[in-house]
Amino acid sequence: MRQPTNSESHTTLQPLNPLPEIIRREIRAAGAISFARFMALALYCPQLGYYERKPDTVGRRGDYYTSVSVGPLFGELLAFQFAEWLEAEVRSQKSEVRIIEAGAHDGKLAADILDWLQKNRQPLYARLEYSILEPSPQRQQWQRENLARFAPRVRWLSGLSENQETFSGVLFSNELLDAFPVQRLGWDARAKQWFEWGVAVEGERFVWTRLPVSAPSSIFHPPSSPDLLEVLPDGYTIEICPAAAAWWREAAAAMRSGKLVAIDYGLTAAELFLPERPGGTLRAYHQHQISDDLLANAGEQDLTAHVNFSSIQQAGEAAGLQTEGLFAQPKFLTDIAARVWKNPAAFGEWTPARTRQFQTLTHPQHLGRAFRVLVQSRPA
Ligand SMILES: C[S@@+](CC[C@H](N)C(=O)[O-])C[C@H]1O[C@@H](n2cnc3c(N)ncnc32)[C@H](O)[C@@H]1O
Repeated sequence: MRQPTNSESHTTLQPLNPLPEIIRREIRAAGAISFARFMALALYCPQLGYYERKPDTVGRRGDYYTSVSVGPLFGELLAFQFAEWLEAEVRSQKSEVRIIEAGAHDGKLAADILDWLQKNRQPLYARLEYSILEPSPQRQQWQRENLARFAPRVRWLSGLSENQETFSGVLFSNELLDAFPVQRLGWDARAKQWFEWGVAVEGERFVWTRLPVSAPSSIFHPPSSPDLLEVLPDGYTIEICPAAAAWWREAAAAMRSGKLVAIDYGLTAAELFLPERPGGTLRAYHQHQISDDLLANAGEQDLTAHVNFSSIQQAGEAAGLQTEGLFAQPKFLTDIAARVWKNPAAFGEWTPARTRQFQTLTHPQHLGRAFRVLVQSRPA
């Protein structure tokens, strides 16, 4: 669950975004589009999508905050953990040591990690290649500016298939998988079958419409228990995210050895598909508020759904990875912190500011609630 920011900060008037009109034209020309297509345009249309326009949508000045905006501690604890995982590679002296971050957004988390490694793990830092996986040239540009001081250590990749990239090391993301476009499926109680929610236009407004399911049956795994289907109300809605599972599969296939880590808010399939959650988990974040109006403000609001960790875990295991665990974020961070507290000299002073950040990251009413960490690995 993303945390909306407080609403005091800014209400400046923005110039009108032409994106809704571009989407309307596509629908008028070709007919109703899937919600996944609508979400892809709303978030990633070059120059106009939500993630293409504003360098500061995350953080205190943006629409919501993440573990990264709480302060540097999140990155520092991850850096401590990554250094432990990469210890053998640092000792072996064979080649460079690799960390790959996907969904690096403005580069703040990368800066927190690199800063800590530079100060506390010089031998690793000196041989580190920190790659940022970033398909958007616009976002790469913002990241290059923000990470200029680490220039010799950082490089950018547009995708893992670029140069048939394979790697050994750590590939991780924080709140990446929740930002992939999802398909919204609805249950037709009379016909006893699933349909896909699509988007049509009425006048100038976007409206919901029912379309046939477009997902290939191999990845279409909504609840199929006859008992459950018997009680689902008409229009009961879930999301599936083939794009996230496909991304994970590609990352797993590219990994020769090491760890693949996703930090995100999400649930297992059994926790997601419950009769008492009839509307799915998709939410919009706009001007510091959570909104259920998913079709409003295209390009101006974030759209995000809970990650189905069961489908991600299965995708990794099908690619030969071992699952080390699906941890609640408080447990994952507390286990790292426990090793830090045992050996404070290996981390740096645990200041009152770090204590406050730790509490926010792990407290059930803050970021500790719905966040989980999936760790999968391939041994060397
Ligand atoms: C919610 S933001 C990430 C927040 C950031 N990691 C943090 O912790 O503050 C999601 C980011 O994922 C990026 N993204 C979307 N699809 C991607 C892909 N296929 N590869 C890498 N990044 C992607 C978006 O541009 C956006 O910057």
